[in-house]
Amino acid sequence: MKEKSPYLDQNNILHLPRSIMVILCGASGSGKSSFAAQHFPETYVVSSDRCRALVCDDMRSQTVNREAFELVNHIARLRMALGCTTIIDSTALQEFARQSLLHLAHYYSYPTLLLVFDVSEEVCAARDAARIDPPPVGREVVALQFELFRELLAKVTNEGFGTVIVLKSEQINQVRVQLEENHR
Ligand code: CTP
Ligand code: MG
Repeated sequence: MKEKSPYLDQNNILHLPRSIMVILCGASGSGKSSFAAQHFPETYVVSSDRCRALVCDDMRSQTVNREAFELVNHIARLRMALGCTTIIDSTALQEFARQSLLHLAHYYSYPTLLLVFDVSEEVCAARDAARIDPPPVGREVVALQFELFRELLAKVTNEGFGTVIVLKSEQINQVRVQLEENHR
């Protein structure tokens, strides 16, 4: 699916205004963190893995999800209060996670862009299995994520995001980002 979007032009240039919340969304191994590292200044990116590490030294710990997401939401809130562009790097596969971010963005009158990484389960599982840092989440977790991912594709355009862009594997590599910088 290639969404018509006010942000993505025909040359696959993603034009992002200042003061937008971009939520990266997709299974482990779909390339969210790689995309974030390639296209955004590090400080724009609020990563759930990073927040897990900050609270318990283990970026993959599943026992600190509540604390990690409190921190994700807290940093996002502070950035938006200052008018800064905010990129959320987490799987965002659970509806309540997407809704809590959406709620936050609405509070600060931020436009929202959900950027969906539509990469096949086989590719995600293979990339996951091959990784060292962070360590793999494992085949079963990837399979569970894909159950959520298929649900998401069916309903995501009705969830309230200002814009939803679904990027297929081949398109992800073609996208270039043009950012309006935050004020310094
Ligand atoms: N990778 C790749 N080709 C791409 C994108 C990513 O080979 N086009 C590799 C990365 O080098 C990394 C692995 O796939 O070893 C996972 O990529 P990453 O960006 O970390 O995936 P995420 O979606 O961020 O996964 P997670 O949700 O687990 O953080
Ligand atoms: Mg990641």
